[in-house]
Amino acid sequence: MAETKSYYERHIFFCLNERANGEDCCARHRAQAAFDRCKSQAKSLGLLGPGRVRVNKAGCLDRCAGGPIAVVYPEAVWYSYVDESDIDEIVQSHLRDGVVVERLLTPPDVGR
Ligand code: FES
Repeated sequence: MAETKSYYERHIFFCLNERANGEDCCARHRAQAAFDRCKSQAKSLGLLGPGRVRVNKAGCLDRCAGGPIAVVYPEAVWYSYVDESDIDEIVQSHLRDGVVVERLLTPPDVGR
């Protein structure tokens, strides 16, 4: 079978889930602002588009205890970020250069 090239080189999904019942969720940890920051930084670096990077919203990724959460494919690397500088580092290091930001990795056993 011929090798198929991925439409996007990298795809990052941000959990933006908001729980109305008062339970903790990524939306309560500035996930929307992080998503917006990621998109604008990736755009200003010229990373967005087919064959490059796509930044997407997602619902709950079921790893809430490590939130706020984002995941990058195709590497399936999970991040727990805190602030804008973390987002900038993910954009420049991982999305642009393909180098995983080890210090922001979600611990492997963290679930809901
Ligand atoms: S609320 Fe974000 S991973 Fe579940």
